[in-house]
Amino acid sequence: MRIDILSSLPHLLNEPFTTSILAKAIKKKIVEIHIHDLRDYAKNNKKQIDDYSYGGGGGMVLMIEPIANCINKLQQEREYQSVIFMTPDGKKLTQSTCNELSQQRNIIILCGRYEGVDQRIRDIFVNKEISIGDYVLTGGELPALVLCDSIIRLLPGSMSNSSCALSDSFQDNLLAPPIYTRPSDFKGHKVPDILLSGDTTKISDWKEEQAYKKTEQKRPDLLDQ
Ligand code: ADE
Repeated sequence: MRIDILSSLPHLLNEPFTTSILAKAIKKKIVEIHIHDLRDYAKNNKKQIDDYSYGGGGGMVLMIEPIANCINKLQQEREYQSVIFMTPDGKKLTQSTCNELSQQRNIIILCGRYEGVDQRIRDIFVNKEISIGDYVLTGGELPALVLCDSIIRLLPGSMSNSSCALSDSFQDNLLAPPIYTRPSDFKGHKVPDILLSGDTTKISDWKEEQAYKKTEQKRPDLLDQ
């Protein structure tokens, strides 16, 4: 899979791809990440990428040309299944969107900044608008990283235990059951006996039951879906 991220603050995006599962996925060539600085696509000498909004109103708006130049160049080189704009007014990110995107070959993620991007970018180029929640951040870079992380961990080979991603909370509209590791007894707080029994059928039934109970208590809305 190839992910191209377009940003006016590209240095915000680098670090998470240099450690742990994301770095390993890149090293194993499971995913390619290409980060593009929108200023490199600005036409004028000042490398201007934002301007005042027509009709007044506070704040600056990301201009159409640098973004269009970058997206056009990428789309001439290969086909992209999704051009995603990270925005608080987009569709709220869910596990099923992550699953869907993890099946695609090439995606572009555009990060907003300032008051947003020129609406024509959304009209002409973008086919998915994604929000990571009902709150407003200073830009789309952190949301883009959230999206990348949630997709990359689903790619075959990126996690050492491939069954892990499938047993995540939300994969079947259930929260994951509680998990434990050594010691089996911490100052009288014991791991449930069943997990130490070695009986795999009983353990699996217990986990399923716990997943239901936890979902009922914490996120009953998921059970209605
Ligand atoms: N940009 C600013 N806030 C955002 C959010 N909640 N989701 C996606 N992009 C954003």
